[in-house]
Order: sequence, then structure tokens, then C-alpha cells
Amino acid sequence: MLFYWFFTNFVPVKIILAIETSCDDTSASVCIDGKIASNVAATQVIHAKHGGVIPELASRAHDELIIPVILEALENANTSLDKINAIAVTEGPGLMGSLLVGVNVAKGLAFGLNIPIITIHHMHAHIMAHFIDEPIPDFPFLCLTVSGGHSQIVLMKSHFDLEILGNTIDDAAGEAFDKAAKLLGLPYPGGPYIDTFGKLGNHKKFTFSKPRIDGFNYSFSGFKTSLLYFLQKQDENFIVENLNDLCASVNYTIVEILLDKFKKAVKETGVKNVALAGGVSANSYLREMFKTYALNHKLEAFIPNFQYCTDNAGMIAITGWYKFLEKRFAANNFSPKARIPLITENL
Ligand code: KG4
Ligand code: ZN
Repeated sequence: MLFYWFFTNFVPVKIILAIETSCDDTSASVCIDGKIASNVAATQVIHAKHGGVIPELASRAHDELIIPVILEALENANTSLDKINAIAVTEGPGLMGSLLVGVNVAKGLAFGLNIPIITIHHMHAHIMAHFIDEPIPDFPFLCLTVSGGHSQIVLMKSHFDLEILGNTIDDAAGEAFDKAAKLLGLPYPGGPYIDTFGKLGNHKKFTFSKPRIDGFNYSFSGFKTSLLYFLQKQDENFIVENLNDLCASVNYTIVEILLDKFKKAVKETGVKNVALAGGVSANSYLREMFKTYALNHKLEAFIPNFQYCTDNAGMIAITGWYKFLEKRFAANNFSPKARIPLITENL
């Protein structure tokens, strides 16, 4: 106890406060000397009844939630604003109104406290979530990042040197889950419902189209259309009577599409470490198939804890920590960006 008191009062520690407001989760986190001390996320429930995120409602909800969420993150980490050494904030990509709330609060705090600000690329942060808890992947590793807005295969050469091998050309994996769920009459966001009901069904019951495009890019439009046309041919009770099998088959198809390309990229690059990131990496079937694939091919698999898969400020905080160590600070006049390519030059 005495040691703890001495340590927290006299040994200089470096503390980062991080803010994430790129979409519909208002989140704040505190990182103390490279360890996540708190991670608070308020998911905006208001969008569920609209069947998708309404940007204007999202920014208003961020506005209301951001200060209480920051205060809770500070309290949970047993610290206070005057002890913070830098503020990390999501610069993009994301919804402009939502990003603006986080960025303006971050700028105000940085200015008021006279501390540096660190801008974070949201998709880089999803990958950097692997540096929060042990085991941490060695470089190089190949990351399959699957979220509501992106499906990417990224070769990580170091913390700030990466190469995108594959990208989505239409819907992202999360969008494919959410749109399929909508067709099945499930609430938004539908990915977790398909995951839950799918566990109870037979994934071989129905088959849906898989894309036949070259390279490592992803497409889900053919899958979506085949599901739509299939459902249109059925009678009105079909979905209710077959919901678990439909969810299992949808889940299976999306995961197969994701893993088919990823496996090809692993083969071509010859990497030995493989990682999953983004909201869809919370999917239990994807996690299981990913681990099995790695085991069968003598690869080391890395998957973040659940709380660091979907949008969270913990991943912003850890990325901020690594940027802080390299003094990668932003100019005070930066603005958020709805679109920002994930390239080494932007990190
Ligand atoms: O990374 P994320 O939280 O936000 C973005 O950056 O987009 O990802 C959200 C996406 C949503 O499309 C949601 O349906 C999906 O992740 N998702 C899941 C699961 N949990 C979240 N998809 C399938 N299975 C899940 N268990
Ligand atoms: Zn995300």
C-alpha cells in the first residue's frame, strides 16, 4: 500500500486521455504508461429503432455523452485532468458530425491544459488494439480488419509502417451482416443477432453466392442480392420458421468469403502471425474458424479481447501511447476527416 502511494505520488508516469466518437459509440479511455487503466463506452441505443445510424442523432448523442464518459474514464483510472500528459483523438474516417464532437472536446482540453494532441486513424487503431494485452504479435503480421465500414487485409511491418493488400469494393463485412439481418427482420446492428441465432442453426441448410473477383479485394454485393432474391421467393412464414438456419448459413457464407481471401494473402506473403480486428471480429464463428485455420497451418493467431474489438477508446489510447513515445503530435489547427486513406504517410 505504502509502495503504491509512493509510486502514484512520486514516480513520474505518463498519462494519455483518449476520445473516440467516429460513429455511434461515445468512448473515452485512460492509458497510464502503456497500460489501459480505463475504457468507458456508451453505445447510442437511439439508432436501433431507425434500423441504422442517423448521423445527426449520433452527433447530438455524442454531445450529451462525451463529458460524462470522459469523467467516468478519469475516475475509473483513479486520475484527474490535471495529471494528463496528452490527448489522443480519432481524426477519421467516420461521420463528420460525430468526429467533430470528439475533436472539438479534445482541442479544448489540450488548449486549456496546455498539452499536446495526438490524432489517430480509426482503422489503424483497430489493428493497434493488439498491443493492449498480452500476447502481442511480432512484426510482420497480417491483420484481417473487419468493421461496419471496412474489410481490409493489412500487412503490418511495424507500428507505423503498413501496407493494405485487400480492401472492400462495395459493402464492408459488418454492413453485409447488418443488411442481411435487416432482410431477416432483425434489429440494427444485426451482426450480433446473426451470430447468436446462427449458433443454434445448421449452416449447410441454405447456400448463397460468393464473389469471384481476383486479388485480395472483397465484395459482398453478389451475396446480398442472392439472399434478397432467395427470400423474395419464399412464403411469409419462411423466415420465422427457418431463422436459426438462415442466420447460420448467412454467418457461414460471410466468414467463408472473409477467410478465403485472407488465406490467399497469408500464402502469398508467407507471414507466420495472423490477427483479427474490428467489430466483426467479435463474431464467434469467425473467431473459431480463424483459430482453427491458424492451428492447422502452424500460424500464431491473435484476437483482441471483446471490449477492444468493437469501437472503443482503449484502442485510441494505446495508439496514442505509441505515437506519444515517438512525439508524433498534431498541429493545433487540424480538422477531422470523414475519409482518410490508411497509408503509412497518414499515421
Ligand atoms: O468496428 P465497429 O464497432 O464499428 C466500425 O468501425 O464500423 O464494427 C461494427 C460492426 C457492425 O456492423 C456490427 O454488426 C458488427 O460490427 N458486429 C458483428 C458482431 N458484433 C459486432 N458482426 C457479426 N457478429 C458479431 N458478433
Ligand atoms: Zn471501428
